[in-house]
Amino acid sequence: MNLEELTRLYDFTGRSVVITGGAGILGGEMACALVGCNASVAIVDRDPALADRLIQRFEVNRGRYLVAYGDVLKKETLEEAARRIVAEFGRIDCLINCAGGNDPRATTNSGQSFFDLPEEALRFVLDLNLLGTMIPSQVFGKYMVGQHEGVILNISSMNAIRALTRIPAYSAAKASVSNFTQWLAVHMAQEYSPNIRVNAVAPGFFLTEQNRFLLTDKGSGALTDRGKKILDHTPAGRFGEPEDLLGAVLWLLSPMSRFVTGVVLPIDGGFSAYAGV
Ligand SMILES: NC(=O)c1ccc[n+]([C@@H]2O[C@H](COP(=O)([O-])OP(=O)(O)OC[C@H]3O[C@@H](n4cnc5c(N)ncnc54)[C@H](OP(=O)(O)O)[C@@H]3O)[C@@H](O)[C@H]2O)c1
Repeated sequence: MNLEELTRLYDFTGRSVVITGGAGILGGEMACALVGCNASVAIVDRDPALADRLIQRFEVNRGRYLVAYGDVLKKETLEEAARRIVAEFGRIDCLINCAGGNDPRATTNSGQSFFDLPEEALRFVLDLNLLGTMIPSQVFGKYMVGQHEGVILNISSMNAIRALTRIPAYSAAKASVSNFTQWLAVHMAQEYSPNIRVNAVAPGFFLTEQNRFLLTDKGSGALTDRGKKILDHTPAGRFGEPEDLLGAVLWLLSPMSRFVTGVVLPIDGGFSAYAGV
């Protein structure tokens, strides 16, 4: 199903969606799909200029958009962004916590053992993924509490299900994101409203700037051993394309999934289901 067919199925007219890290590869694709479904989309990123590549795609679509500066680790920048979003769109219905990622400095390799990984790099990855999900959930989730409804969607990963080699901080951080998704789903429903739902998607392997250095050779572009192993363990036999996430994302943000909260949905071509034999 292509993007045009998908956007015909969902209508987010009158609903606003905040996407942290929305100028990135996966967040940007989600932003384009949501604008195509008539949503009012706020891209919140620490380098808003990165969103320029998306704007042409937005303008042929029907929804509205704005781009705001916000660093997911600096609460006051998110509060400032939230005030602007509410002033322009009137409300905050959905939050996608897309800012996140790994850092090569927190990755083991032949020249850098686990024992040598710098504390600062480990802390950076743990903070970006876990606190970078919790802090925006505090800031934007408060508006949902005021409205008695809303949807938060987090981005977990395959390594949250079973840790992957070489990336200890990223694996631990994404496992924490899955755990926090369950925690916040229960908390929002019990303390505030069952109409505030919190879920996550766990993307499989998508070839993006964050993992290109692990999956392909820098010089030749050929698959690394790790890239080959991943494809061998992916029943669908390919890496994911950013558009592969969209059906699940739109469904989880829409009232079609109104009784679904606290789930972490793998979108992985079967990787997490396959034992390897
Ligand atoms: N790609 C995959 O295969 C894959 C698989 C599973 C999960 N994920 C997760 O999916 C999410 C999106 O990944 P992606 O591949 O689209 O990565 P990406 O292209 O690097 O997008 C991430 C975006 O977040 C921004 N960002 C980083 N730190 C930030 C901060 N402190 N405050 C605000 N924005 C910040 C980045 O800006 P800068 O460019 O300035 O850093 C970038 O625009 C991440 O959580 C990632 O861990 C990706």
